[in-house]
Amino acid sequence: MFSMSEYVSGDSYEECRATADWLLSSTQVRPTVGIVCGSGLGGLAEMLKDPQVFKYSDIPNFPRSTVHGHAGQLVFGTLKGKPCVCMQGRFHLYEGYPIQKITLPMRVFKLMGVETMILTNAAGGLNQDYKVGDVMIIKDHINMPGFAGINPLAGPNDDRFGVRFPCMSDAYDRELRQLALDVASNLGYNDFLREGVYCVLGGPSFETIAECRMLHSLGADAVGMSTVHEVIVARHAGMRCFALSLISNRSVMDYDSQEKANHEEVLETGRLRAEQLEKLVSTMVARMEHNNNTY
Ligand code: HPA
Repeated sequence: MFSMSEYVSGDSYEECRATADWLLSSTQVRPTVGIVCGSGLGGLAEMLKDPQVFKYSDIPNFPRSTVHGHAGQLVFGTLKGKPCVCMQGRFHLYEGYPIQKITLPMRVFKLMGVETMILTNAAGGLNQDYKVGDVMIIKDHINMPGFAGINPLAGPNDDRFGVRFPCMSDAYDRELRQLALDVASNLGYNDFLREGVYCVLGGPSFETIAECRMLHSLGADAVGMSTVHEVIVARHAGMRCFALSLISNRSVMDYDSQEKANHEEVLETGRLRAEQLEKLVSTMVARMEHNNNTY
């Protein structure tokens, strides 16, 4: 059995507190909203007014982002008058980080006062009705690595963050999903807005045809390599979560198809839809109420 101090996970309360305190003493911004930019969606961070930027490599305890399309910096500022922090680039299992390091920023944000997380990603469309460029509101997830015990909350539980066995049936906030539908409708985005189930895999290899067929038959509408771990840790800590997938490619489900998933296509789709995605997120933030949850 590990004691809390012997078990060095990289996301202990003390480490997160130290990182949060370092950031709080380095910026005047007191964020209540956290945003994570997915592949090709870093432009979201450029919407922040009076930005203050910290490279991950300069932040104590922070991992570094190694993926092309991810800038690797935290941006503080205001969005429609609301104080925000934005991750321009996130961390993934396939980069080789311990899973607790991938999700460390969620705990740091919580300790800085963040109440609501908005997460974005690029994903493959398993649902055959989905088109490239569609935006899917995530209503639920399938944590495939979790089935094998790869869960960011594995290990001793620190009650200062949350409970040992957190509920996940309400992981994606119902009110925020409704707000997204309302805002999208007002903006005339109904043609490309969807709501569905996101499945996370470890990557970095894309899925085989048999894997795509299996995931679809299990109830997944989109597949990717991120977001779910962050949501689990954010929910554990009592933050509201809202997440969007930009469908950057259609998953190959057919042995006669010549299509192949590739990272350039993922980035290109981000560029095409970026402006509308930014508008959707910023309008949501403008209309968002404070978190009423009591934990
Ligand atoms: N599979 C997994 N991750 C992804 C994909 C995909 O097809 N597209 C973008 N990220």
